[in-house]
Amino acid sequence: MTALQPRIDPDAFAGVEARVFPKPWSAETFVGEPGRLGYGLWDGSRCVGYIYGSVVMDEAELWRIAILSEYRRRGLAAKLLRAFANGCRTLGAATVYLEVSALNRPALAFYIQSGFTEQGRRPNYYGAGDDALLLSLDLSEYPD
Ligand SMILES: CC(C)(COP(=O)(O)OP(=O)(O)OC[C@H]1O[C@@H](n2cnc3c(N)ncnc32)[C@H](O)[C@@H]1OP(=O)(O)O)[C@@H](O)C(=O)NCCC(=O)NCCS
Repeated sequence: MTALQPRIDPDAFAGVEARVFPKPWSAETFVGEPGRLGYGLWDGSRCVGYIYGSVVMDEAELWRIAILSEYRRRGLAAKLLRAFANGCRTLGAATVYLEVSALNRPALAFYIQSGFTEQGRRPNYYGAGDDALLLSLDLSEYPD
């Protein structure tokens, strides 16, 4: 059983980063200032996943979402996205945007399953043969 906490916890998020991404973000990256949104999932005292992004006017950006590998495919990322989407709506956002590598199959499958649609592509954005896909989610069509 995991507990959702509606706050940015830089050290905990960076701890997940270090275990999930080859180029992890540091704790200093996760800034808790107005317009920033973060939610963490906790299994006891252990942070097992988080989501982090921002809202400016009616546009939100999802910058990072990660779940520790041993906690995946249990609906935890979906739980984080629901909380993030509701937080974005509360701050006035109508649409969530993100960029993802076209080679990141799990993330892409998760985003498409969640209702994101492709808006564009930046060829070789992450390196040769590694395009960035620009995706968006219409919050009026996303469930509460
Ligand atoms: C992408 C990620 C966050 C998904 O987390 P998760 O908790 O496993 O996702 P969920 O369990 O909520 O999945 C919800 C649905 O998304 C889809 N999905 C998720 N992972 C998938 C995968 N590996 N392959 C295919 N579909 C997948 C499925 O439809 C899934 O529903 P189902 O399990 O009932 O079939 C996780 O794989 C991860 O942390 N990846 C590494 C970090 C990353 O690349 N982040 C994105 C870029 S910032």
